[in-house]
Amino acid sequence: MSQQELHGEVYYPSAQVVSNAIIPNPDELYEWAYANPLEFWAQRANEYEWYSKWDKVLDDSTAPFYKWFTNAQVNIVHNALDRHQDTDTRDKVAFFWEGEAGDERVLTYGDLYIEVNRFANVLKKLGVAKGDRITIYMGRIPEIIVAMLACAKIGAIHSVVFGGFSVPALAGRIDDSQSNLVITQDGNWLNGKVIDLKKIVDEAVAQSPSVKHVVVVQRAGNNVTMHAGRDLWYHEEVAKVNAACETEQLDAEAPLYILYTSGTTGKPKAILHTHGGYMVGTATTLKYVFDIREDDRWWCAADPGWVTGHSYIVYAPLLLGATSFMYEGAPMFPAPDRWWSLIDKYKLTILYTAPTAIRAFMRQGEGHPAKHDLSSLRLLGSVGEPINPEAWRWYYKYIGGEHCPIMDTWWQTETGGFMITPVPALPLKPGSGTKPFFTYEADVVNEAGDSVAVNEEGYLVLKRPWPSMLRTLYGDPERYVQQYWGKYPGIYLAGDSARRDEDGYFWIIGRVDDVLNVSGHRLGTAEVESALVSHPAVAEAAVIGLPHEIKGQGIHAFVLLRAGYNESDELEKELIQHVANVLSPIAKPEKIYFMAKLPKTRSGKIMRRVLKARAQGLPEGDTSTLEE
Ligand code: WTA
Repeated sequence: MSQQELHGEVYYPSAQVVSNAIIPNPDELYEWAYANPLEFWAQRANEYEWYSKWDKVLDDSTAPFYKWFTNAQVNIVHNALDRHQDTDTRDKVAFFWEGEAGDERVLTYGDLYIEVNRFANVLKKLGVAKGDRITIYMGRIPEIIVAMLACAKIGAIHSVVFGGFSVPALAGRIDDSQSNLVITQDGNWLNGKVIDLKKIVDEAVAQSPSVKHVVVVQRAGNNVTMHAGRDLWYHEEVAKVNAACETEQLDAEAPLYILYTSGTTGKPKAILHTHGGYMVGTATTLKYVFDIREDDRWWCAADPGWVTGHSYIVYAPLLLGATSFMYEGAPMFPAPDRWWSLIDKYKLTILYTAPTAIRAFMRQGEGHPAKHDLSSLRLLGSVGEPINPEAWRWYYKYIGGEHCPIMDTWWQTETGGFMITPVPALPLKPGSGTKPFFTYEADVVNEAGDSVAVNEEGYLVLKRPWPSMLRTLYGDPERYVQQYWGKYPGIYLAGDSARRDEDGYFWIIGRVDDVLNVSGHRLGTAEVESALVSHPAVAEAAVIGLPHEIKGQGIHAFVLLRAGYNESDELEKELIQHVANVLSPIAKPEKIYFMAKLPKTRSGKIMRRVLKARAQGLPEGDTSTLEE
């Protein structure tokens, strides 16, 4: 590979990494794919099985409602499971799984196929039909994967809600999607304790008349109340049905799932992904970026409740016939070396996690990884927020033993798959996601939409459609158009700011909208504010994100109390707990500031920017619109 000198701190791949890579010479492919995007994607799509092929790779006639692989017939589950049943992959391990208490399960592709067939038959028996929305609220156990695949197999649309969301947040998502069935488990193990998921579902379903049935997986053995006629045990139902089930033949553009994510308003957005394009996009990105091989043992340590889990725990690895590992519990349970012991025990070859986890481990010290043999690792990955160079170097040195390239993948729930990301043979710079993936076009632009100069900050945009892109916001197509394509027509606005350096490497700076990134979790300021305002003591609230050593951003809340309430330490604690109760424990503010007044524009909008500047002792910037 012809390598010119790059600027800054650069890690060149070793000769061994380059010679083993699926794409040893990425420059050539970057160039060809960029010039021939549709041919590139048609070739990739041909690596999978279609019941019938497409007329057109891309139809942009109704942009920004792009269509990929038009009129093709497919089902992602056919490619993730069915097609492997006639090959040696049938007996290959799909998932090694370990529970928090150390219990183990192994599922081959054959096992998973049977389990999915059975559960799909249960869903059909319960009257679930093509296009129905099914809410899944579970922890990291194999049945969450089975549940998602069973929905997809019969053409139902799954809506997974992260198991850390509280009752109102879950109820809102069930209601918005009008789900008629909820799949959950009795309890979820976390840090040696059982979280009573069924109870949360009971309270949420009490507010959601659309739900006809709740299917409950028995996991923790905690006491649950089963509502006669409504609630069913998973293990009892799967025992009653047979193990054969036809996979539904669907249009490539048929919806696969919706996944709620935070935006600028208090109401989460339901991102919609489809069978065909999402299948090709997620499988291709995983294959090329993490160089997936026959004997790899892949560990994406995310939760299936977020997009990272959807794409890179559930769908892409199965599409590639890869072996994955999944761990149920908390990273530091029972001790800070749990993860490293798992890598050693299962001889895992690739670890994909978030900077917040790396910083938390870093704080525990390198003594913990040093106790274990991590030499099975050959690649590392990072996702969720910009990785600070210090954490990058620690990860590289103490986890990767200075021989594992780190794939820093920038993407979003909306993009479905990696967008700005290295491939193993590319030189790396700590903190940079390097370049757009093959065929993709990213840019950094100013207000007017013009590309900014080298190293100048601006809005990150994507200038071409891509197969795994969101197709719309479920139930709100206008918001889809306005939110993502409204600022610059024909161009996708990511909501992040970035700069591009002299070597064309992208550096993500952070969100430019009212979206917070706490421990790699996306939360809207408006969601946290409305949680606060739902407490009787609070008249008004404004929240901002401030730098936090482990979490990346910590939430700081400014509140105005109603008459009759006085500030106190108890009230601060109560409000913090209230946010956990109505939204999620991950949204807990670090601190509450009781205010006599909030800075507002003359039109009444709270100026969070001013609060942020004041909190950090920085200049307040343009305050000409401030009311006082
Ligand atoms: C941020 C998670 C820098 C970014 C897959 C984006 C990142 C938001 C990176 C999407 C990264 C994600 N470097 N920032 N490698 N990955 N982000 O929808 O702000 O939960 O817009 O998807 O996370 O979060 P989401």
